[in-house]
Amino acid sequence: MQATAAEKRLYIKTYGCQMNVYDSERIGDVLRPLGYQLVEEPEGADLVILNTCHIREKATDKVYSELGRVNALKRESARSGGAMMVAVAGCVAQAEGAEIMRRAPGVDFVVGPQAYHRLPELIARAHRASGERLAAQFTPEEKFDALPVERQADGVSAFLTVQEGCDKFCTFCVVPYTRGPEYSRPPEAIEAEARALAARGVREITLLGQNVNAYAGGLADLIRRLARIPGLARIRYTTSHPRDMDDALIAAHGEVEALMPYLHLPVQCGSDKVLKAMNRGHTAQSYLRLVERIRAGRPDIALSGDFIVGFPGETADDFEATMSLVRDVGYASAFSFKYSRRPGTPGAAMAGQVDEAVKNERLARLQSLIAARQIAFNASVVGRVLPVLFERPGRHSGQVIGRTPYLQAIHCQGSEHLIGQIAPVRVTAGAQNSLSGRLVMEAA
Ligand code: 5AD
Ligand code: SF4
Repeated sequence: MQATAAEKRLYIKTYGCQMNVYDSERIGDVLRPLGYQLVEEPEGADLVILNTCHIREKATDKVYSELGRVNALKRESARSGGAMMVAVAGCVAQAEGAEIMRRAPGVDFVVGPQAYHRLPELIARAHRASGERLAAQFTPEEKFDALPVERQADGVSAFLTVQEGCDKFCTFCVVPYTRGPEYSRPPEAIEAEARALAARGVREITLLGQNVNAYAGGLADLIRRLARIPGLARIRYTTSHPRDMDDALIAAHGEVEALMPYLHLPVQCGSDKVLKAMNRGHTAQSYLRLVERIRAGRPDIALSGDFIVGFPGETADDFEATMSLVRDVGYASAFSFKYSRRPGTPGAAMAGQVDEAVKNERLARLQSLIAARQIAFNASVVGRVLPVLFERPGRHSGQVIGRTPYLQAIHCQGSEHLIGQIAPVRVTAGAQNSLSGRLVMEAA
């Protein structure tokens, strides 16, 4: 631990995906040696960082309205003699850095996802108001090499980025532009980070990547390697592309005990015509066959997915194909979105943009189907005894909250000593988003 002179308050607001959650933690790690301590509220902070998401228009809009609020705080701070610095990080910074600087005058600098290791320098430059307000381009390699090895993870479950970027170019998606080409971190660096996390008491690691199963050295081998780390009981990974689900990874699901029986495998839609226009590189049939192969190796695996409704050209029949795919797969949970026209992506220029009212109606129908599946899945485990990894105290005293192998949140009566442990719990009830259960006393 490095001693620090003055303590400075750092507020980070994180939007979007789990990779941003991971990046925000790493930003904290980079800035801690400079004396920055994380605070819960932006009021009175010395540095406010918005770690932004560009995936859909709504996500981007939220950033601009938050910047309005933050700017008011900044003016307030200036009136009372303070100096709040405001930075925009993440994918909006990458995609529209210049526009942010124009639209939001209170922003001191923007920093794209590959430049977080340069934050100390950017902050110093901004302090001197030297005029260089936009971060240059970097590669993920430089970023990961320059981030501190030590992490301040303080939970039972942690994220670990193993892969970044995307070469798939789905026609609706900004990720290949904001996060750049696919890059995989070397397994040695990942293992070192995982060991450091385990040494801090982390019991579960979720390996992150926009195309995590495209991990260059083979994700299955990486998982087998990490599964040997003492203390690490559970491994998960997200997000996977159906095209990269290889035999070795499918086999690992049947063989590696630490690999949890849950898989987020987005299909986006059930119509082959739309899948083609989306440039997904798979059909509804090939996806269903893949699901069958995965279930052959691990019959109880819980599947989850992402869906987009109202992609250009989507007809009522195309949408029905999505509904029937959802029924056929029997997802444990899923996320669904209205197609959002993202500037610069091929989809934005396509003919046959779907009416907003039609999108709303389709989304509502899909979401109620998904909700029903989720309720059915949660009900299906009632009565079973499942190993639960306890993560945190519950809202009520004497309550602890953990997760089942299928990623369901479950709460039960129990002591906080259970946090960090895996204990058998009999599931007594299931709702749409969580379960309740009773600890099963093991014979002494
Ligand atoms: N509009 C709506 N949803 C989108 N997603 C990605 N891009 C868009 C877009 N332009 C969804 C996809 C992806 C998830 C992370 O976000 O379903 O899997
Ligand atoms: Fe976006 Fe498709 Fe890449 Fe996923 S695979 S990040 S949806 S372009």
